Amino acid sequence: MRVNSLTLKNFRNIKNLSLQFDEGMNVICGENAQGKTNIIEALWLFSGAKSFRNSKDSSFIMFGEERAETKTEFVFAGVKNDAKIEFAEKRIAFLNEKKLASPANLAGNFNAIVFSPSDLSLVTDGPAGRRKYLDIAIGQLYPNYIEILKNYMRAVTQRNQIIKDYKYDSTVSVMLDVFETEIISSGAKIIEYREKYIGILNKHIPEIYKGLSGGREEIKSVYVTNCPAIMLEERLKEKRREDMFTGVTSVGPHRDDIEFNINGINARAYGSQGQKRSVALTLKLSQAEVIKEITGEYPICLLDDVMSELDVIRQNYILNHIKNWQSFITCCDPSNTERLKEGKIFTVSKGEVI
Ligand SMILES: Nc1ncnc2c1ncn2[C@@H]1O[C@H](COP(=O)(O)OP(=O)(O)O)[C@@H](O)[C@H]1O
Ligand SMILES: [Mg+2]
Repeated sequence: MRVNSLTLKNFRNIKNLSLQFDEGMNVICGENAQGKTNIIEALWLFSGAKSFRNSKDSSFIMFGEERAETKTEFVFAGVKNDAKIEFAEKRIAFLNEKKLASPANLAGNFNAIVFSPSDLSLVTDGPAGRRKYLDIAIGQLYPNYIEILKNYMRAVTQRNQIIKDYKYDSTVSVMLDVFETEIISSGAKIIEYREKYIGILNKHIPEIYKGLSGGREEIKSVYVTNCPAIMLEERLKEKRREDMFTGVTSVGPHRDDIEFNINGINARAYGSQGQKRSVALTLKLSQAEVIKEITGEYPICLLDDVMSELDVIRQNYILNHIKNWQSFITCCDPSNTERLKEGKIFTVSKGEVI
């Protein structure tokens, strides 16, 4: 898909702004706190998701104003569309002049991926963030998955509640059987979805990472299942005694992880800052490839502050080798833009483009 234009009114520090974009690379350049990320954020909100900055809706409205408005014209599957979002007490979204029941319904009509500095935690932090990332990515493509995941998590919570009573009252084992049956059936589906998704992701990760590192490094990403689907039943029963002391369910896909190895060495434990950033970025860029493979359309690619901490090889790859799909990238250093071969540069100052 492609975004033709963006219009902002009272959106954060941007009073009035109308931009026409390049169909390839768009670089948004400027000093700190000028409004670069605000532009990226405004684009992202058309995907129907929450802000990647974890902001409340009220924070989108310019200080001292009562409402904000964002508009875009974009092309999806060859068809031109308009979307509008009004921010006042509530966020209200319109697609082709029609009011949507919820802004979340923009999802599937306007596809985007975003990379922001906080995504580094995907590599540096514990497995919970990686699972959440996976679950959201899979849920975007297969809405069924969200339901399965909910049923699964509910069954795990219920098992956790009751497992503690197991040592006093063995009759609760009947209840445990019920919850474990749900854990086994939903858990197996979750594992299947994740294996399938990571399988497609892994078709793209090595090539993108290789490009980013100028061919100097190789990456391998592995799905680490806590327990294979076929063994869930046996392992859950086996762990009942142990789990009753901790009060938590130690077996199942809520304990899964993805591991990244660079040239055979674990990236989370030993990677440099730049390598970790490259891994997180690779993950996001590969996600775009998966979306393309499944929906037939590339999402737009929003890269916020990705240039810092990357060497020139990596920066050049981003600037000139992300082909076939429209990208928006913010940076502070104007020298970044000198190396841009094709595309459009926007210089942002005090909420205006000069
Ligand atoms: N609701 C708001 N009203 C007015 N200004 C805002 C609002 N929210 C954020 N800002 C301002 O926007 C600026 C930050 O913009 P941002 O896009 O994050 O900067 P950068 O160019 O560094 O990416 C800050 O100066 C901040 O005070
Ligand atoms: Mg910023």
